This record gives sequence, C-alpha cells and structure tokens, in this order.
Amino acid sequence: MKQTMRVGIIGGGLMGREAASAFARWFVLQDFPVKVELTAVCDLQESLLEWFKQIPTIKLLTKDHAELLKSPDVDVVYVAVPHNLHEKLYLDVLAAGKDLLAEKPFGIDLAAANTIREAAAKSGRFVRCSSEFPFLPGPQRVVNYVRSGKLGKVLEIHSGFHHASDLDPTKAINWKRMTKFCGDIGVMGDLGMHAVHVPFRLGWKPVRVYAQLQKIYTQRPDGKGGMAACDTWDNAMLHAEVLIDGAEVPMRLEMKRLAPSETNTWFIEVLGTDGGIKYSTKEPKTLWIFERQKEQIWQRIDLGFQTPFPTITGGIFEPGFPDCFLQMWAAYAAERAGELKDRFSCVTPDEAVLSHELFAAALKSQAGHQVVTL
Ligand SMILES: NC(=O)c1ccc[n+]([C@@H]2O[C@H](COP(=O)([O-])OP(=O)(O)OC[C@H]3O[C@@H](n4cnc5c(N)ncnc54)[C@H](O)[C@@H]3O)[C@@H](O)[C@H]2O)c1
Repeated sequence: MKQTMRVGIIGGGLMGREAASAFARWFVLQDFPVKVELTAVCDLQESLLEWFKQIPTIKLLTKDHAELLKSPDVDVVYVAVPHNLHEKLYLDVLAAGKDLLAEKPFGIDLAAANTIREAAAKSGRFVRCSSEFPFLPGPQRVVNYVRSGKLGKVLEIHSGFHHASDLDPTKAINWKRMTKFCGDIGVMGDLGMHAVHVPFRLGWKPVRVYAQLQKIYTQRPDGKGGMAACDTWDNAMLHAEVLIDGAEVPMRLEMKRLAPSETNTWFIEVLGTDGGIKYSTKEPKTLWIFERQKEQIWQRIDLGFQTPFPTITGGIFEPGFPDCFLQMWAAYAAERAGELKDRFSCVTPDEAVLSHELFAAALKSQAGHQVVTL
C-alpha cells in the first residue's frame, strides 16, 4: 500500500494554485512511493476559494487558517503567503503538529528564519523550503558535473535569477515591492533562494560579501489612479568569496527585477581550470560543457526530460516550470517518506537560515559600502 500525503494549502494565490496543479498530475510520476491528495485550502479571497472548488479531493475551503490546521485530513501544509506572514503561519503549522513545505524566503528576515528553524527542530516535524529550478535536468547535470571533479581548480561561480517586468514603470505596485510585506531584503527575499540553493548544496558558503543593491523605481501606480511608494531593493549583486579546497574562489550571485528581456531566467555557470559548465532557463534545452583538451572547447548539448523522478513523459520532450515544481514536490514527499535515496533534496531549514545570514550581511555591506565577513 502506498502512503498518501494529504496536503493543505494556506495561500491559494500564484504559488498555491501552482501546487494544486502539481498534485493534479501526480500520476505522471512513475513507480513513485507516495500518493498525494489536496484536502484543504485557506485563502482570504472568495474568488480563489471558488477556483479550488474544481478539485474533487478538497474537503475544506476556509478563510481561517486555524480551521485548516485543526483538520484531521491534513498531514502536510504548504504555506504560500506574503513574507510578513511567514513566521506566524509557519509557527502555527508546527504547533498544530503538521509537516511544512514553507515558501521562501523562510521568514521576513534572519531573526524570523532563526525562530522558525528552532521551532521546526523542537517540533520534530518534517520541514523544507521551496526552490524548484534545481530539479530541472540542466541544473541536475551541473550538480553531478561539479561533484565528478572534472572542473579541476575552480576559477569562479556565477549564479542568479533575473526578471524583467519591473522595467515597465507603469506596472502597478504589489506586496512584493513594499518593504513592510516583502522585507528589508527586498529582491533578495524574492529571488535569492533560487540563486543560492545549488551553490550552498555544493558546499559553497560565502565567507565574505560585498553587495551592490539598487532601488531603481521608487514609486509605482497603486492601481487606483494614484502612486504608491515602491521601497524595496530592486536589483542585488552579491560579490562573495567561498572556500574550495582551501582556496578562496569568487562567487557572484545576482538577483534582479530589472534585467532587460529576462522574463524568468535562472542560471548558473561554474568555471574551472580543466572544465566548466553552464545552464540557463533562457535556453531550457541547452547545456554547455567546457573541456580543456589540446584545444579548448565549449560543447553544446541538447537536454531531454531526464528529471530526478522519472515520469511518463517522453525522454526527448522538454520540461518547464510546472515540471520542476512537480519534481520539487516529489523530492519533498520522497524525503518525508524516507525514499529520497541519493536524489537532490529541497532546501533545508539550515540552508534557509544561511541564505538569510548572507542577505543580512549584504544589507550591512550596502549600508556601509564595505566588505562584510560571515
Ligand atoms: N517558488 C517560487 O518560484 C515562487 C514564486 C513566486 C512566489 N513565491 C513565494 O510564494 C509566497 C507567495 O507568493 P505568491 O506569488 O503566491 O503571492 P500571491 O500574492 O499570488 O498569493 C498570496 C496569497 O496569500 C493569501 N493570503 C494572504 N494572507 C493570508 C492569510 N492570513 N491566510 C490565508 N491566505 C492569505 C492572499 O489572499 C493571496 O491569495 C511568497 O513567499 C513568495 O516569495 C515563490
């Protein structure tokens, strides 16, 4: 008998509905040890609760998250709400004795992240944080390549996540552009976890950072005919050093809301003396591998559908955002069931706290235009 993971969602907006879509096509996973059922959803908006009525397994739709947390039909809660609510809601989930897939950035700031990590450890519940891009075939190839030792001495690491839509000054404000909801770390809270998940997992933890943070548009239309303050950091470039085999190696992390033409570009590039590898969702099928032979060559490889958890999808087809989100949920469910084996796993509470330590150091660096030691 397969175990069934019964999930409740708090926050049925952009990401809450994306999770529902992943659960709805769970059957594409081949020989997967866990079944999933979406049983309860909480959101404040009536129209969203209405949308979830199309899902037959849902037994409870509510505007009160406490009611969802009382449900005996919920084992795991996915919380996808604005950052100012993370700490309170994550702690409530743990106090209710449920497991948690938290959305990034895992609390609005370092203090909140530490409190959540502590509560998670005390509760003994299974807690992970969301970051889905590493589950695409390209990033998986990068991880395996680095671990194979083919790089030689590592020269540099460059990882990031770029958006472009904020280039438009007429784009209306939303909570992600307001510090009181998004946090002082601004774009780092929004996009930072995506940039650090793979580097942290490969053991590349910054020892020093110099940050360049930019606020580019300081106000935006409020959607009601007026203007509202847009007070978050828009773009962040973190110039860090990591220790690899006793050597200091530069690592550049980029998180940008204003990066011309980049709609949702996750990328990583790692260069070494013997080899190198780069991947970007800009060209989702393409993996580049560098080899130093007699001549120096960048090889371009067309990727297929080699996801960590096999699915019924043909091996030559190309994956996209909903696929990596499903793969991330599969990793969560498999690890929770003790069936992850040697596959890549979701962000841990320790990694989430580490990201906050880096972002807090970046704020300090920006404030004093100085290098900050971690
Ligand atoms: N992993 C990713 O790729 C990714 C992408 C986008 C956003 N996110 C993260 O997901 C989280 C949510 O972002 P989003 O883009 O889905 O936001 P969103 O604004 O689309 O959705 C948030 C939802 O939370 C609901 N909500 C607010 N307060 C609530 C409460 N007290 N109880 C229940 N529901 C409540 C809102 O009504 C809204 O529907 C954030 O932490 C964000 O950083 C992750």
